[in-house]
Amino acid sequence: MGSMPTSHFSGLVAPPRDEIFELLGAFRRDTFPDRVNLGAGVYCTDEGEPMPLQVVREVETAMYEKADPHRHDYRAIEGDAEFLALARDFTFSTACAADRITSVQTVSGSGANHVGARFLAETLRPRCVWLSNPTWANHELIWQTVGVPIRQYPYYNPDTRAFDFEGMMATLEAEAEADDVILLHACAHNPTGLDPNQEQWKAIGALCQRKRIFPFFDNAYQGFASGDPDRDAWAIRYFAQLQQPALEMVVAQSFAKNLGLYGHRAGAFHVVAAGDGCTEGARDAVMANLAQIIRSEYSISPRYGSDIAKTVLGSKVLTAQWYTELQTMSSRIISMRQALYDELVRLGTPGSWVHIVDQIGMFSYTGLTYPEVKYLREKYHIYIHSSGRVSIAGLNTKNVKYVASAIHAVRSNPDAVPSA
Ligand SMILES: Cc1ncc(COP(=O)(O)O)c(C=O)c1O
Repeated sequence: MGSMPTSHFSGLVAPPRDEIFELLGAFRRDTFPDRVNLGAGVYCTDEGEPMPLQVVREVETAMYEKADPHRHDYRAIEGDAEFLALARDFTFSTACAADRITSVQTVSGSGANHVGARFLAETLRPRCVWLSNPTWANHELIWQTVGVPIRQYPYYNPDTRAFDFEGMMATLEAEAEADDVILLHACAHNPTGLDPNQEQWKAIGALCQRKRIFPFFDNAYQGFASGDPDRDAWAIRYFAQLQQPALEMVVAQSFAKNLGLYGHRAGAFHVVAAGDGCTEGARDAVMANLAQIIRSEYSISPRYGSDIAKTVLGSKVLTAQWYTELQTMSSRIISMRQALYDELVRLGTPGSWVHIVDQIGMFSYTGLTYPEVKYLREKYHIYIHSSGRVSIAGLNTKNVKYVASAIHAVRSNPDAVPSA
């Protein structure tokens, strides 16, 4: 007779960890002096250092000096109303009446995605959620967690390295049904860096109207993608102003990237109602349902990051200063895309690389294969996600030539690359 297990957990099977955190751990353990981290989506300076925004530093200093005795207080379950109104206006501007929107504070963008998924799972009870193929890995985990079946719509065409608009529309046209949820990246699609153009967004909006598909926008990069927050919010605002029929939709918002508040978890979730969903009673019920979800999960969102965001958004002077810094961050990323492209072209690296400059935002879907990525890590100490997604923010004027020459070496000599 075998011995009885002594723990309830001894037979537990470990689920796969998110590769991006594994990659970061391996990078930190690597002692090679020229190692390069192109995994995590965290902005770094040209010196490869993290960059607290100047405007954030100023607000922190003022907060510290003020030493408000309430600074450690609990907030309301639904969050800080002033922060939420400013966050809402930052994203929606005047695209639709503010009284169509119910907002709650969340644990950054991931928390907003989760609260949103759970809210829709419990209220809309959709047949399925449509995720782009590919998408941010956490989308799958979050929707699995709330028990909504996942379907995928084509998004990336590996042959053309371009957005597969026709494939997306054909699939949704044929297979999507009323009240299905569709998850859309508001800008700077992660991982591909490929966004629909305005005409394509209009067609997607019309499809949602006609087929009554429910849009869920994930807005993690507003202002960070192009340097212009209004431009990056174009698709959300376009959907929000549609009429006949007006669309109901939701938005998950993060201030992690655009304000550099990664670990402070400042975010919001917005529900945009239409028709009789805009009455006070209906909106109160939406708020109460959201508050109940939040109460059962984390009770109250952190306040340090949202206090900073509120102070910046509430001041014209600080907002202008922030916008200048957004320009600096996005221009550095755009110039690094160009530098990598130029160097690969100069070296005559086999393959086409123009997609690197055509894509937008923090990431580039390079088209590097898994064996190539693995070899780049083992031989050159360059850390890239197995999908070939590169965080352009990890490139700088000192390492871009090294990275390009490594890619060149790998591509020019395929026989040296072991199959993974
Ligand atoms: C597509 C997408 N959504 C949401 C997030 C949320 O990030 P956070 O939870 O740090 O705000 C990220 C961050 O990488 C992202 O890429």
